[in-house]
Amino acid sequence: MKILYGGDYNPEQWPDEVWEQDHRRFGEAHIDTLTVGVFTWALTQPAPDVYDFTVLDRIVARAAAEGRRICLATGTGAHPAWLARAHPEVTRTDFEGRKHRYGQRHNSCPSSPVFRRLSSEMARRLARRYGGHPAVIAWHVGNEYGGSCYCPLCTEGFRAWLRARYGSLRALNDAWYTTFWSHTFSDWDEIEAPSALTEHWRGPDHTAFQGITLDYLRFMSDAMLANFSDEKAAIRESDPGTPVTTNFMGLYRPIDYHRWASDLDFVSWDNYPPDDRSPARMALAHDLMRGLKGGRPFWLMEQTPSVTACRDVNPLKRPGVMRLWSWQAIAHGADAVLFFQMRAGRGASEKYHGAVIGHSGRADTRVFREVAALGAELSRVGPATLGGRTPARVALLFDWDSWWALEISDGPSRLVRYLDVVTAYHRALWDAGAGLDVVPVTADLSGYDVVVAPVLHMVKGDLAARLEAVAARGGSVVTTFLSGRVDEDDNAFLADVPGPLARLMGVRVDECDARDGTYLNPVALGGETVEARLLFELVVPDGATVVGTYCSDFYAGTAAVTRNDFGAGHGWYVGAALDAAGVAWVVRQVLDRHELLGPYPDVPDVETAVRVTPDGSRLLFVLNHRPDAVTLPVVHPGTDLLTGDPAEPGGRMTLAPHGVLVIRVSGSGGP
Ligand code: GLA
Ligand code: ZN
Repeated sequence: MKILYGGDYNPEQWPDEVWEQDHRRFGEAHIDTLTVGVFTWALTQPAPDVYDFTVLDRIVARAAAEGRRICLATGTGAHPAWLARAHPEVTRTDFEGRKHRYGQRHNSCPSSPVFRRLSSEMARRLARRYGGHPAVIAWHVGNEYGGSCYCPLCTEGFRAWLRARYGSLRALNDAWYTTFWSHTFSDWDEIEAPSALTEHWRGPDHTAFQGITLDYLRFMSDAMLANFSDEKAAIRESDPGTPVTTNFMGLYRPIDYHRWASDLDFVSWDNYPPDDRSPARMALAHDLMRGLKGGRPFWLMEQTPSVTACRDVNPLKRPGVMRLWSWQAIAHGADAVLFFQMRAGRGASEKYHGAVIGHSGRADTRVFREVAALGAELSRVGPATLGGRTPARVALLFDWDSWWALEISDGPSRLVRYLDVVTAYHRALWDAGAGLDVVPVTADLSGYDVVVAPVLHMVKGDLAARLEAVAARGGSVVTTFLSGRVDEDDNAFLADVPGPLARLMGVRVDECDARDGTYLNPVALGGETVEARLLFELVVPDGATVVGTYCSDFYAGTAAVTRNDFGAGHGWYVGAALDAAGVAWVVRQVLDRHELLGPYPDVPDVETAVRVTPDGSRLLFVLNHRPDAVTLPVVHPGTDLLTGDPAEPGGRMTLAPHGVLVIRVSGSGGP
């Protein structure tokens, strides 16, 4: 047992001689896991009545003969050309109403009965053939589910979904507030998919009816989940045990991964950060993915060993960065480190995408050497990190419904973006070194000392009561502007803002001023002045202590940040979009109170994360995201798993540029 290492492998694209070289190189690089068949539908079903597994048989047999494990894909992420020709219903209709013809990938209408039948049939046949094969350790269904479709079949599917959700048109009309603009629906068939041809007056985020658009987002996420579930069920007919997953995309708006999580046997995801300056954002995405299944380990299903190809400009990962980011994934809960792709294809849009083996097949490239060195390192580490769980005391709430509702809202500001606010608060927690879980609003919060809920725009179910319980027993709850605004249907609470959170926060918000990014209003906070921009709520304390006040404009001197005593704990309300220093101040006040600062809170871009393995070992991962070396005092003595070097009490330890330490902490104390 060890961390799985390998990635997407598409040898159906090249001749047999190359396969020889591939496997030789895999041996040299300690590659033990291959994801195969991700885009093989046209190969395995070349015509309507023809299934042909000859090539896949050989790929599987060869990998198994080499002792490698296989993550077997169902290959349904792109449909064959003949299928689109024979059944035009399988292609999508876009937001503008354009019916697409055959092309690209991730191109199937999720509501198409033909797609659903044939994708299931493919999964069924694959499972009959390869299920139980000793080398097949996981199923990879589809690929990167996403996008959307607005075709007549999806409109039908939407109506059926709505019937199931609301039961009656009366309940639907209530939820959608259809008395507005004379929209009262008197027949289910009057309901249209919200698109550029119907409710939307600019793009996908500009809708006349938030309720309709929100439900369509939910429906589309569910429709794609149904595609996944179709295939999983077909696999289960003959393969009862092999775990089934699909590769998620981290901070991806169109799919509500929380609604999907229970249908997957384990989570896997593809990490393609927008740039190489965002280690905190990657940490957030890892934690979100780990949080989907209650903290259970996940797979890093894809990352590039070197460059991507789809961006306008595709920078190289610097020496050491691929290793560092791999360890970052492990630090946050990954039990597999996989690449896209094992070998570069010759043609089409990904021919310049980085690969473990490039077009020349050489082993003496920097990229191959780094991949091989990491492979050797992971082999040495063996099972030591596997199954490790994160003992976090801080929860960051993440909610797709709030994300969607905020960003499809007319007013107060299109400039306030959900991820910007979430990442600002996460960044402050990350900088401070707090171990955290990113959890859904339905999560059990009873194990956390601190709950941070940025832009908790929509408050559903008993969440407010559960947040109150956190504070009542001595915990701290932090929320921000634009929280507690709407219910599950995106209708405003008929109450003071922040609605159900008002008691806990001890404030009410009477007005909200949105300005463009050039307007600054300083906030006096803890003896300093920080900046705020974009959004300024006029907060009226109703029991809360004023902690920060606006410095200018007609609301100068009024509350921007408050802290409310609630039971034995606190409710913090941050009414303005504070700059990084302001957010950090608030976050550190809270972490300090609970003694939850990490070991190196003042060393920029040195990240720490903890995993506790099933045998009780505490592993402290120390990750240097800086291009220079850094020397740190030993705070938690132990032994570095990677080198065997001791981290002595009172001693110092040095991390190379982009270096990594994995300290097995001695004794029972520690982080
Ligand atoms: C995604 C896909 C892969 C490949 C990579 C390229 O993650 O799943 O098939 O296209 O992107 O970065
Ligand atoms: Zn459709």
